[in-house]
Amino acid sequence: MRILVLGATGYIGSAVTGRLAEHGHEVVALVRPRAGEARSVPGAAEVRYGDVADPASLRAAAGDVDVVVHAAAPTGDGAAESAAADALLSTGARVVYTSGIWVLGAGASAEDAPLAPIPLVAFRADVERRVREAGGVVIRPGIVYGRGGGIPALLAAKAAEHGRGRYVSAGGQEPTWPTVHIDDLADLFALAVEKADAGAVLHGVGEEAVPLSAVAEAAARAAGLGGTGAQAWPVEEAAGDLGPAFAEALALGQAVSAARTREALGWHPHRPGVVAELAEGSYRGGR
Ligand SMILES: NC(=O)c1ccc[n+]([C@@H]2O[C@H](COP(=O)([O-])OP(=O)(O)OC[C@H]3O[C@@H](n4cnc5c(N)ncnc54)[C@H](OP(=O)(O)O)[C@@H]3O)[C@@H](O)[C@H]2O)c1
Repeated sequence: MRILVLGATGYIGSAVTGRLAEHGHEVVALVRPRAGEARSVPGAAEVRYGDVADPASLRAAAGDVDVVVHAAAPTGDGAAESAAADALLSTGARVVYTSGIWVLGAGASAEDAPLAPIPLVAFRADVERRVREAGGVVIRPGIVYGRGGGIPALLAAKAAEHGRGRYVSAGGQEPTWPTVHIDDLADLFALAVEKADAGAVLHGVGEEAVPLSAVAEAAARAAGLGGTGAQAWPVEEAAGDLGPAFAEALALGQAVSAARTREALGWHPHRPGVVAELAEGSYRGGR
């Protein structure tokens, strides 16, 4: 199939581009133009220029493809996100939209749970609805790790800065994160492109609920620090460093099941867990 990937230079998008190319698909990367620079993207057969904030550029880029994988970072403008989804859907291509587990809010949930998005991702409820109603597919990844990148790399950097592992906490019970290895997630995107039902919601989660003290402690080991234990970082304090909306998101405690996704697509996440990957894998020695 010919597949347009938005965000093909990003953390998730680059892994998905590589996996789709390995599966024999013709990947067309959509990237933002940079003055005086011709951009190339590993794994992509072709590069087209466009911007999520410019619906006409999306319609033009997606006019002759079978599938669009939208893995571009949010623009921060909810109306623009919905307009972008409409532009992509108007071409008749099948849209695979990258949402995220933060639309589910705190606590335990599965694929059919009602949405309770935190403010940072409130716009996604409308985008998810538009995509599903038009026969597209929604993928909600957990916290992505592996290849030395993603939010765990930020935790390792913060551990190095403070000499100790720390996790953002709003107080009370220690939060847990649903997580997924980037290579397992790339497998899921390929399965979604090739065989997901129209309107499907898929959870890209390998481990349902990993205690944050364990993640933060492993992040400290990734940063070369010894067994100093992890420390809760009050969300109000973290907000000053990371911004209030992102700090709130990092403090969110969730347990998210992907049982239906695994069964529907025969998806078998099998890479090392986030704690092992941080402590002994791709994060060792920094990125
Ligand atoms: N990482 C996670 O743990 C995680 C978990 C759940 C959901 N998600 C969601 O998955 C998506 C991708 O995340 P990521 O971690 O891969 O992000 P990322 O590494 O920051 O990559 C962002 C990509 O989006 C592109 N981009 C940014 N603004 C754009 C615009 N206005 N128009 C077109 N392209 C644009 C960037 O391209 P340039 O090269 O032009 O900058 C880059 O390729 C995001 O929606 C994110 O919220 C991520």
